[in-house]
Amino acid sequence: MGYIGRREAAPIIVEGLKKLEYRGYDSFGVATISGGIELDKHQGRISNSSRSAAHLKGKIGIGHTRWATHGVPSDTNAHPHMDCSNRIAVVHNGIIENYAELKRQLIARGHIFRSETDTEVVAHLIEEAYEVEKDLLAAVQKIVPKLTGSYALLVIAIGEDRIIAARYASPLVLGVGDGEFFAASDMMPILDHTDRAMYLEDGDIASISEVGVEIFHEGKPVKRPVELIDWSQEDTKKGGFPHYMLKEIYEQPQAFYNSVRAITGETLPAPIRNPGSVTVIACGSSYNAGLIFKYLLEDSCAIPLRLDFASEFKYFPPPIQGLVIGISQSGETADTISALKQAKEHNCTTLAITNVLGSSISRSTDFTLFMRAGPEISVAATKSFIAQLAVLMQIINFIRDGEFEEVLRNGHRAIEEVLLMDLSEAVELCINARSIYYVGRGPFYPVSLEGALKMKEISYIHAEGYAAGELKHGPFALLSKETPVIAICMPGETYAVMISNIKEINARGAPVIALGVEGDLELAEVVDIFIPLPETHPFLQVLTTLVVLQLLAYHTAVALNRDVDKPRNLAKSVTVE
Ligand code: M6R
Repeated sequence: MGYIGRREAAPIIVEGLKKLEYRGYDSFGVATISGGIELDKHQGRISNSSRSAAHLKGKIGIGHTRWATHGVPSDTNAHPHMDCSNRIAVVHNGIIENYAELKRQLIARGHIFRSETDTEVVAHLIEEAYEVEKDLLAAVQKIVPKLTGSYALLVIAIGEDRIIAARYASPLVLGVGDGEFFAASDMMPILDHTDRAMYLEDGDIASISEVGVEIFHEGKPVKRPVELIDWSQEDTKKGGFPHYMLKEIYEQPQAFYNSVRAITGETLPAPIRNPGSVTVIACGSSYNAGLIFKYLLEDSCAIPLRLDFASEFKYFPPPIQGLVIGISQSGETADTISALKQAKEHNCTTLAITNVLGSSISRSTDFTLFMRAGPEISVAATKSFIAQLAVLMQIINFIRDGEFEEVLRNGHRAIEEVLLMDLSEAVELCINARSIYYVGRGPFYPVSLEGALKMKEISYIHAEGYAAGELKHGPFALLSKETPVIAICMPGETYAVMISNIKEINARGAPVIALGVEGDLELAEVVDIFIPLPETHPFLQVLTTLVVLQLLAYHTAVALNRDVDKPRNLAKSVTVE
């Protein structure tokens, strides 16, 4: 968040950051201009901290509340970050993907780095450009083309009565007040002061002074309309979505894209490039992600994978050696952490895959890979699940020497294509169901498990996922017209047997909702409701079917008036065994 105007900036920024905390909360900081730059930053939540940074003096300031991606949560890694001479301060939301290379070059040119963040390279790059340009806007315009990745940047410098803002693939909105201006990742902290906003577009760079805003795109001045925002605070927090879960479902293309790109030759630890065998331990949705990984890894790389519930592994550790991977969105799940400790005691190499930098799991394993889903608020895992798959699929891609590079780089597009599907007919069938069965084969079996988990978790309708061939070994006894079966039936080796399974279900009177590829008339003819999906690579079909099942669970829960984001009896992070 940034402020420029007639009032003291720091108290406004501190209050604003408290409203932005839902986007990240492991550390916070503020910098203001008052002759020199005043800086105050701390590990922890701004809302819990006794040290709030509100005391800083000055009418120009920037602040940040962080969700760590590069460098653990700490005072030093908290934003703002400064250049070597402490004349320039920067806050950043997003990921500078080429920071390692830029950092190497800057260090070679004599720059001293204080933090482990990707963001700090921006401060040093601006420092160099400012030496030449003597103008902050020109300096930012000069360095931005060197950055790869995503950024919403706010920059201040001693001697400059303005804030420079730059945006690419990370949100940034400017609030237009009376003789004062605000900048923030969303309208949430701005609405207390004004309802007039300008949304920057990708590639825009803005110079914000007390008298007005100038915006440039590719060096040329452009105008962005001032819009009236009539959202409530609560609406704004959820980005206009009625629930966090829906917002997070819609954030999945970005979560997938960022997580794929986060796993590079440099970040991938050596033991995982050539594992003899792999064991995965996890709980809940993370377990389902592990099971999808098992199918894809064994098929693509012929590497055997053993999968265990963390809660079982801990008490009944199997006689294994080699690589053990723990998957946990929160990084705090007690069962997964203690199972990994158990694996370490058995001399296994341990790797954590988590969404939370500095989480307990990452401190207890030999290696950690971070996905880049950003904070997930809704109890039901959605974007973190997709991000786990992105990381796991990238591991397969590396083992296969880049065979799936192109597919994964375009995965976010496949997800985007299904976000707006009309599922109302299927929802109508589900809200009246006594039980819902989900069936699939191969990787679509764990997709079925995950679809059923989402449904039961937020709609409270009993739902079970089955390997399609298993239904006839018992569950058939439960089928009736009140027990819809959701069948995932994609082209491939098991297509014909899936069609047979569907006919068997038909014969027992249960309505079938099928997910298949568009234009599949054979399938459409044998089911009650056909949900057509774009035909794409099998990896991406896993993603698209998942997203449809998340949406089906979400809309069913909404139709039943459930507390979608906070389902009864559950917690986001399960820190007890
Ligand atoms: O944080 P983790 O990934 O370790 O959490 C594991 C499960 O508790 C979690 O996936 C849970 O099943 C979700 N609420 C499902 O939506």
